[in-house]
Amino acid sequence: MAFDTIIRGGTVATASDTFSCDIGIRDGRIAALGAALGEAKETVDASGLLVLPGGIDSHVHIAQPSGPGIVMADDFASATRSAAFGGNTMVLPFAMQQKGESLREVVADYHRKADGRCYVDVSFHLIIADASDAVLGQELPALVHDGYTSFKVFMTYEGLALSDMEMLNVMSVARDTGALVMVHAENYDAIRFLTDRLERAGRTAPRYHATSRPVPVEREATHRAISLAELIDVPVMIVHVSNGEAMEEIRRAQSRGLRVYGETCPQYLVLTEKDLEGLNMEGTKYVCSPPPRDAASQRACWQGLQQGVFSVFSSDHCPFRYDDPQGKLAPKGRTSFRWVPNGIPGVETRLPILFSEGVVKGRITLNRFVALSATNHARMYGLYPKKGTIAVGSDADLAIWDPQRKVTITQSLMHGGSDYTPYEGIAVTGWPVSTMVRGRFVVRDGALVGKKGAGAYVPRALSEMARPAHAGGVPG
Ligand code: URP
Ligand code: ZN
Ligand code: ZN
Repeated sequence: MAFDTIIRGGTVATASDTFSCDIGIRDGRIAALGAALGEAKETVDASGLLVLPGGIDSHVHIAQPSGPGIVMADDFASATRSAAFGGNTMVLPFAMQQKGESLREVVADYHRKADGRCYVDVSFHLIIADASDAVLGQELPALVHDGYTSFKVFMTYEGLALSDMEMLNVMSVARDTGALVMVHAENYDAIRFLTDRLERAGRTAPRYHATSRPVPVEREATHRAISLAELIDVPVMIVHVSNGEAMEEIRRAQSRGLRVYGETCPQYLVLTEKDLEGLNMEGTKYVCSPPPRDAASQRACWQGLQQGVFSVFSSDHCPFRYDDPQGKLAPKGRTSFRWVPNGIPGVETRLPILFSEGVVKGRITLNRFVALSATNHARMYGLYPKKGTIAVGSDADLAIWDPQRKVTITQSLMHGGSDYTPYEGIAVTGWPVSTMVRGRFVVRDGALVGKKGAGAYVPRALSEMARPAHAGGVPG
């Protein structure tokens, strides 16, 4: 038999082309693309459907420690199951260091949490909270060498925020090793100042979370992160950009030839700060950082996606349960927004929202959708062309979409560990019906058929984008 599987009759799209062809799969890889490929052990009829590279969500948080009494809603099994139902074949969560911890031990710990539990493939970014000499001088370079080729730094959050000096030291390691630095850009002192004032004025409801982190807080930190990266001459990825002013900082840097990249997320396209105004504590369901803004910010984020200022669209999936003493309402007696765990679930809804609001509504092409959802993630984070495209030799990581299916997003359709979706009630057209990782279905016609543990850890090469500027193009 020539192939294990042939997917017949679908419309195939990559980041650059859309065409009709059959896909022949052998040993987990794409072995042929064409018409009349011959025989296979199994034939899958995809007529009337789209066959796309499986989504890669390069910004998710899974099973991260989140503070006393707070537990993240997803472990690796539930998060990767939810990812598969959302048309994803790979996720990149963070191995988060806390102060005083050995980075190597942190990584080993996340492997223990993930091993044997994943439905889709995974790879880890690192979070550097303790920029000590030992970490920067020894552990971090060794880990980059071992395939952990990107790391996130925070300019805010108690226990995580790095000083400018620490940021520069981390960026120097990135320069020496070729790793890519991801930055959470919000000004910590400004947030603390505003939070104290709001609390003193009795403004503690969830909606004041947004008031405590206004646009200038993010714009200033974005500008500063870019300036620090420019000093060191390293590429930098500004993650979860929420508004036009921060986006313009990135655009301006790009137009000056700097290797500055941007990411935005569904919450900045379809939610606003009004969502934090829910009755009682319902607003906590939307507490994430940076916060959702307003309609003008949403338009700016769409422009960033259309014009190539943003090269990746990720979920920033960071799930907590709502109606749970360990979730959004956890900190007993601590009624201020200050204590609400930051983050919202979204790994399952990222792609349907982008497809419906983007492709179906004519804001982006199908090829741009593929770039933003899969290909650019693979290129950015050292996985291309093994992952992120449909080409002979690539892993057979595929999502089969029904582009006509109309769905109203609701919690009962979700497969993760949270008890709510912040996208409740949003009507979408287009839905991923089947997801295949390395030639094996994980979700087939809406049903889970994959095995827990079939998802593998994938070490990564250096980012294409972290090579010297003349060596490669910037993905739009
Ligand atoms: O609120 C958010 N975004 N939580 C997740 C952690 C982060 O900053 O990405
Ligand atoms: Zn962040
Ligand atoms: Zn995040």
